[in-house]
Amino acid sequence: MGFATDCIHAGQRPDPTTGAVITPLYLTSTYVQEGLDKHKGFEYGRTQNPTRFALEANLAALEGGVDGICFASGLAASNAVMSLVKPGQRVVVSDNVYGGTHRLFTKLIAPYGVTFDFLDLSDAAAFDKTAGDFALLWLETPTNPMMKICDIKGLAAIAHRKGARLVVDNTFMSPFFQRPLSLGADLVVHSTTKFLNGHSDSIGGVAVCKSADDAKWLKYVQNAQGAILSPLDSFLVLRGTKTLAVRMPRHEENSGVVAAFLRGEKKVQKVFWPGFEDHPGHAIHKSQASGFGALISFELGSLAAAQRFAPKLSLCSLGESLGGVETLVCHPAKMTHAGYTQPERDALGITDGLVRISVGIEDANDIVKDLAAALAAV
Ligand SMILES: Cc1ncc(COP(=O)(O)O)c(C=O)c1O
Repeated sequence: MGFATDCIHAGQRPDPTTGAVITPLYLTSTYVQEGLDKHKGFEYGRTQNPTRFALEANLAALEGGVDGICFASGLAASNAVMSLVKPGQRVVVSDNVYGGTHRLFTKLIAPYGVTFDFLDLSDAAAFDKTAGDFALLWLETPTNPMMKICDIKGLAAIAHRKGARLVVDNTFMSPFFQRPLSLGADLVVHSTTKFLNGHSDSIGGVAVCKSADDAKWLKYVQNAQGAILSPLDSFLVLRGTKTLAVRMPRHEENSGVVAAFLRGEKKVQKVFWPGFEDHPGHAIHKSQASGFGALISFELGSLAAAQRFAPKLSLCSLGESLGGVETLVCHPAKMTHAGYTQPERDALGITDGLVRISVGIEDANDIVKDLAAALAAV
């Protein structure tokens, strides 16, 4: 089946009892059993839920994996994936990943004896020369918020040579634009909160596995840790993915208009958007993704400039998160990446004047007009 067809149908069939076209929202904590060893495959709501199962099958199909395992948030999914790593092992992470991922790894998991190295992975060949041993390679591409591009195929080859897994956080691109498992990754993680749900009304996460063994383990972890995606959130994300294939092209079209506008503005010192031909890694991105997504970062030069800009937005909302149908603007240093120390942010280029925009699917002219009005105050 084609991608758009899978978005709408994968994992779902008309309800066998009623014929309902939409997978029902199963709000039940438990299931009646016919005998001590006899049940319909459903025992307890944390372990099994038909709405969540439908979403998990849907997301596995969209990413091309054997199974998807859904969690209460993107970070809960990342935390579960990290259970594949043992104390004493080393994990290499692309630098400037989402601040919450950095915080989870460094503050909560590192104390259990896992070593994390945050490295610039945008040059796979250079990394190969100094990589050393590691058990897991974790990357975002484009990275959040500097839009650095990592070569998924090249890095998968390096990881596999070392007997390590490659995990890609594919939240920014969604499987509509980029399918890391087909490029050699072993697992894909998403904050379903973002493009997969697409409507800014749910928090959730998923890990999609290439191997049945990893999927089996993560299902075990999902039940054992208990950080499951709720039935309502599963229902909402399932509804969200139905329109993924029509939302993403529109996000991208609008982001092209907004990126070009920002680049032409005198008060904007630099624009980071993978769609520019001179964006570092543009060619690699084009070779592994079918589009540029909806995230743009731009430099206003100072905290004072960003502080003058943000409150003047009217249509665009100042807020954390991304990937909703509405345009969202955030200030990484004070918001999404506040978990990094100032020196860490400085080293990554996450300046106090950096602004990130998640371009929505409103009329592009209205978004541009709103940004122009706010820039006039800078
Ligand atoms: C790239 C990326 N990965 C993971 C997360 C964490 O997801 P959640 O907020 O659903 O826990 C985020 C959140 O912003 C993100 O941007």
